[in-house]
Amino acid sequence: MIDIVHSKSGSSVSIHPFGATIISYKSSGGENLFVSRLSKLDGSKAIRGGIPIVFPIFGPPPKDSGSTMPQHGFARNNMWKVKEGSQHDSDSHAGVTLTLDLADASKGRGGNNIWSESEAKTGATSCQLIFEVKVDNEALSTTMIVQNTGSDAFDFNCLLHTYYAVEGKAAQDPKQCYAKGLQGYSIIDKVRGVSGEICGEDPVDLTAGAVDSVYMAPEGKMAVNVEVGVGGGRTVKMEAFGTIDDKPVPASCVVWNPSAEGAAGMGDFGDDQYQEMICVEPGILGDQPALGPGKKASLTQLIFA
Ligand code: BG6
Repeated sequence: MIDIVHSKSGSSVSIHPFGATIISYKSSGGENLFVSRLSKLDGSKAIRGGIPIVFPIFGPPPKDSGSTMPQHGFARNNMWKVKEGSQHDSDSHAGVTLTLDLADASKGRGGNNIWSESEAKTGATSCQLIFEVKVDNEALSTTMIVQNTGSDAFDFNCLLHTYYAVEGKAAQDPKQCYAKGLQGYSIIDKVRGVSGEICGEDPVDLTAGAVDSVYMAPEGKMAVNVEVGVGGGRTVKMEAFGTIDDKPVPASCVVWNPSAEGAAGMGDFGDDQYQEMICVEPGILGDQPALGPGKKASLTQLIFA
């Protein structure tokens, strides 16, 4: 485990090298992240909670692509390395940087896609992922950088799959648990199978049962700003923004909760724990410009807690 403490404020972060998954972020209000009590932490499965990194696909591979890459890609299924000398603790903040080279990703690439081991031998598709984590008295900052180290451009999606802990088993109470700030976003509702509705002024809550919706930014909106109700009268603020080749791209946001039924179907999630979490996940999703050789993309998430 990589433990980062900002001595000046006492805020701290724990990062599991498997997936560079942040599994704890403690600020003055206590723990902010949810990790399932049944989560595997031995590298046999992606960690169920915290902030798993999703790359290069969000969800399953495109239908008819023939790709056998697992859902949400390989970033969360491999051991990352701490960048030498990157761990620090100063008055302004504490932090660390982790990296994963495609060549070191032995799991989760599947076959029949540009990321597969057989394809990668050509050097056409390659990348280094860099994850910069910083914590100070007011926020946790996580920046994922994708560096194209191959000779071809590639398309990708990426996302920070943040699981917030909801106090008092209040996740289904709309007064206490919600995501506010997505008005005007176009909704892909994966539970109802409906796309194109526009999110209204009301905060998104979890009263509908299973919730699994992607919120795509309206024209001209780049950063996403969401207030998350996390029970116990507390809220946290999340801001996220992305770039491809140094140009801003819109940040989308996913809201997910499996409900009782979904929880019962997951081996690594306690049956009642759907009451203790809400996922609010910023990402670079949908059709975005390809990342050219030698170019970088970035996705930053700030959590003010
Ligand atoms: C969400 C997706 O981001 O992650 C859901 O929108 C998915 O469709 C959820 O069920 C959890 O995914 P996984 O692969 O970690 O079980």
